[in-house]
Amino acid sequence: MEKIVDTSDEWILSRTGISERRICADNEFSSDMAVNAAQKAIAMAGLTPADIDLILIGTVTPDYRVPSLACIVQKKMEMYNSAAMDIVAACAGFLNGLAVGNAFIKSGQFRKILIIGVEKLSSITDYKDRNTCVLFGDGAGAVVLEETADDRGILSTYLKSDGRFTELLWIPDGGTINPCQKIKGRDAEVYLKMNGSEVFKHAVRMMGEASLKALHSAGLTGKDVTWLIPHQANIRIIESTAKRVGISMDRVYLNIAMYGNTSSASVPMALDEANRAGRLKKNDIILMTAFGGGLTWASAVVRW
Ligand code: UT7
Repeated sequence: MEKIVDTSDEWILSRTGISERRICADNEFSSDMAVNAAQKAIAMAGLTPADIDLILIGTVTPDYRVPSLACIVQKKMEMYNSAAMDIVAACAGFLNGLAVGNAFIKSGQFRKILIIGVEKLSSITDYKDRNTCVLFGDGAGAVVLEETADDRGILSTYLKSDGRFTELLWIPDGGTINPCQKIKGRDAEVYLKMNGSEVFKHAVRMMGEASLKALHSAGLTGKDVTWLIPHQANIRIIESTAKRVGISMDRVYLNIAMYGNTSSASVPMALDEANRAGRLKKNDIILMTAFGGGLTWASAVVRW
C-alpha cells in the first residue's frame, strides 16, 4: 500500500487493525468465490446442491448488474430446485440475508436456504484513494439454514436502515441518476467513495444499538454472549461496540488483520473461520453484528 498511495503500514495498522487483504485475480469473480464458499457450506450441512430451495446473496459486487449474482451461482452449481435473489445492504448484506432466510423458514415457504456474503471489492475500489483502498479486500462466506427440532439456531435478528446518509458511503455514477452514457466532460465516479470519519461515528453507535436490540429480543445481555462476531471494518469500531455491549475483547472473534473489510463477506467468513478452528461449541451464544452503506445496520443472536 505504501508503494501505491501516500500512507504507511504503521498508520493503517494503528488506525484500522488491518495488515493484509486478499485480492482476487483478474479472472476470478464474485461468483467464483461464492461457489467455493457455497460448496463447502452445503457439504458441511450434509446436503447436496439439489436440496437447496432458496439462494440469498448479500453483495454490492455482483458479476453483472443484471441478472442477480444468485442466478449466476445457481447456474454454476446447477441448483435448479431453488429460487434465487440478491440482497443489497452493503456490509449488512449477509445479516439481512440471514434475517430474511429465517423469516422464510419460519413461514414454511422455503426449507433449505443457502445464504452467501460475497464481495469483490477490489473491482469498485479506487487504488489512488488512500481513504478507501487501504481498507478493502475480497472474499466470501456462506451458511445453510434449515429448521431444527431443538431450541438451538437463530434466537433473534434486528435490521435497520437510514437512507438520509446515502452520500457517506456510495458510488455516485453508473446508476439511473448518472448513467455512464450521460457522463460528459468528467471522469465517471464508479468507485466507492466514503466519508470515513462520519461513517466511523455512525458505525460505533449503530453496531452497539443493533447488538443490544437483538440481545434484548432474545432475552439476553452481553454477559450471556460466548462470542461476538462483528463486521471486521475497523478494530476501533469493534472495540467500542464490545465495550458498549459489555463483552470483553477475549470473547470477540477477530480476523480483520488478515482480510481487511470485505463488506458482506466479513461476518460469514469470520463465523466459518471460528467454527472450523473449533472455537464454537454447542449451545454457545453467538452475537453477529454489521454496519454499512445505506446506511444499514443489523445483528443476529444464535444459539450454536
Ligand atoms: O464497512 C462499513 C463502513 N466502513 C467503515 O466502517 C469505516 C469507518 N471509518 C474508518 O474506519 C476510519 O474513519 C478510517 C480508517 C477510514 C480513517 O481513520 P480516521 O482515524 O477516522 O481518520 P480521518 O478520516 O479522521 O483522517 C485523519 C487523517 C486525515 O489527514 P488530515 O486531514 O488530518 O491531514 C486523512 O487524510 O488521516 C489521513 N488519512 C490517511 N493517512 C495515511 C486517511 N487515510 C489515510 C491513509 N494513510 N491510508
